[in-house]
Amino acid sequence: MLPYKKSTKFSEVLADYPGAPEYLAKKNPKFKSLKNAIVVQLMAPKITLAKMAKKHGMTFEELISVLENGVKSGEMKNGEEFKKRINEANNVKEQIKALMKALFEEGENVDEIKERFKEIVSQANPVVIAIAESELTREGYSIQDLMKACDVHLELFKDQLMNSRRKIEKTHPLWRFIKDHDAMMFWFEDGLRISRELKERNGYEDAKDLIEKLNGIMKHLRESENHDVRQENTLFPVLEKYGVEEPPAIMWDEHSKMKERRNYIEKLLGGIPNIPYDEFVDKLQGAFTYLVEVFVKHTQKEQEILYNVALDILSEKDWEDIQRESDRLGYFELPKEVLEDE
Ligand SMILES: [Fe+2]
Repeated sequence: MLPYKKSTKFSEVLADYPGAPEYLAKKNPKFKSLKNAIVVQLMAPKITLAKMAKKHGMTFEELISVLENGVKSGEMKNGEEFKKRINEANNVKEQIKALMKALFEEGENVDEIKERFKEIVSQANPVVIAIAESELTREGYSIQDLMKACDVHLELFKDQLMNSRRKIEKTHPLWRFIKDHDAMMFWFEDGLRISRELKERNGYEDAKDLIEKLNGIMKHLRESENHDVRQENTLFPVLEKYGVEEPPAIMWDEHSKMKERRNYIEKLLGGIPNIPYDEFVDKLQGAFTYLVEVFVKHTQKEQEILYNVALDILSEKDWEDIQRESDRLGYFELPKEVLEDE
């Protein structure tokens, strides 16, 4: 009988049997998250065996018995694979940290560093990136510093998006959907930029011009909700007709989340000057950062997955219906900056 109690932390098991995560993941599909060495490393010191069992839908006794069988049968190995993956992840993490520090310092070869950073980040596990960021904060780097890395990250997403895009003719209904995305991205980024600029101002009175600009951007963003309505009423139902149900449902859900956050920003702007200026700026910046991040990922999913699936399975007639219905629902005005690069 293994000497573990309900309150034993998984890290103690790991110290005795480094092969435990690999073995559990192999034994039971419920434990597949244990294949991710980074996740294991993060959660092992925090989670108790009782909690872990519950999380994976079994009793503490059942978990112990699975572990015991592994020890007896010799299936629970020494964890070489696990250690190797941890080492690799730590290696990547250290590289990311070094590149981020170089980015913050804005030295001469900043473009070269940006390129290297993009390369490594595009292949790294998001959890590793998050750990690198939180370690840097603990080492004393500021949020403003991390923003610089965040911007490069954003650039990277946009590069990827542009490169993976299929070329769509201007006459095709998808062309407009994609342009809508570019327009929304343009306004989100503008909002983020302004919300950062607000930090340099001394109060509402001093920031009047920027707040006016923000109100303008929010008006555009509100009008651009018409893009979501058009998709939800034309493209999504057609895809569902072909049995593609889950992706549109996810997109729909993300639309609602983004809409909530947009409403929140409008409420913040509408509440001026009832909350202290510094608090207003922090909340605004947080909301725009969230929106930009969610929007970039959302757009990537729509363009790389949803639209490609649609191009593969929809008929000519479907596209004609989508076009007609889109025309009926109407459009919002695209900014000239977005039309210029045509
Ligand atoms: Fe969307």
